[in-house]
Amino acid sequence: METWQGLIDSPYRRWLPVTDRTPSISLNEGNTPLLRSRHLSELTGCDVRLKVEGANPTGSFKDRGMTVAISNAAEAGAGLVVCASTGNTSASAAAYAARAAIASAVLVPAGRVALGKLGQAVRYGARIVEVAGTFDDCLRIARDLAAHHPVALVNSVGNELRLSGQQTVAYETVDALGTAPDIHCLPVGNGGNITATWRGYRTYHAEGHADRLPRMWGFQAAGAAPLVHGAPVADPQTAASAIRVGNPATWQGAVDARDQSDGLIAAVTDEQIFAAYRLLARHDGVFVEPASAAGVAGLLDQHSRGHLTPGQTVVITLTGNGLKDQDASLHDGYTPLETSSSTAHVARALALTT
Ligand code: F0G
Repeated sequence: METWQGLIDSPYRRWLPVTDRTPSISLNEGNTPLLRSRHLSELTGCDVRLKVEGANPTGSFKDRGMTVAISNAAEAGAGLVVCASTGNTSASAAAYAARAAIASAVLVPAGRVALGKLGQAVRYGARIVEVAGTFDDCLRIARDLAAHHPVALVNSVGNELRLSGQQTVAYETVDALGTAPDIHCLPVGNGGNITATWRGYRTYHAEGHADRLPRMWGFQAAGAAPLVHGAPVADPQTAASAIRVGNPATWQGAVDARDQSDGLIAAVTDEQIFAAYRLLARHDGVFVEPASAAGVAGLLDQHSRGHLTPGQTVVITLTGNGLKDQDASLHDGYTPLETSSSTAHVARALALTT
């Protein structure tokens, strides 16, 4: 069996914007597990599969696009790469930039990024700029910087390279299933991933690799659901910090993915998101960050409304690894059993003896 060498050196290379002159800046991203969820399948009567993107090298789906963006930046001789981020993009950009020996600077909303992600960006050597504002402010500033200074912007806006890398999740899914699923669920923040995933399915379908297209079901947090309301949200609110976005940059792409696929973009409450977050870990052994549970919350919500026909194949993208946000886990019901260092006391605490 050939060893997986990352996306640029994979069979998917022909769909990526790279040439023979592009260096392959890779951490062996992609080729992530597609796990069957017995619990969600039983709950819904569907065949539910989990695309575990937290298994990527920096722990999120962002690595798929970043390998392409940073490889191109390296080819172009970039001196500094910049991005705005709710956390995952910054961790990914910083890691790939480090590997390419390019300096990086990341703009994050001050005090609103999960510590694990910040810790990654710091360790990879990024300059961290904590902006007193929202993610949307960070993105506006990052775009301004790129317009007026010699820096490479690696947000998916203004950098279509990112989206073409992220399309590969659809190729892998089709290759694993033999065709496209009936429905593909995922969380939506800035809109890039639903856009890229849908484009990936369309590309693969157009070239005869899949005999059908899925419906795209995107889910936003209720307090940060501009695409559901049809208007930007000035002060987005949700405990799922990764998708706390009020004015998605890839707005039209997300709406096109919804409409062209006869799909939907709906809102789920933080309560629903955290219920799904617990359920995934407890029943499937998959620890995701809260935002990543939005796709599961949305599927269960649609099911409870009677909108899900049993017997369908459903793929859910689990976008990021739970290890990135330990605060979320520990603040969501953690009561240690405290004992002395005696076996008898531990046995009693575990109710093995009385
Ligand atoms: N899930 C996670 C874990 C994310 O980090 C993001 C986006 C999304 C879902 C939504 O994807 O923006 O393409 O619609 N995170 C960006 C960031 C905003 O800066 O890391 P999207």
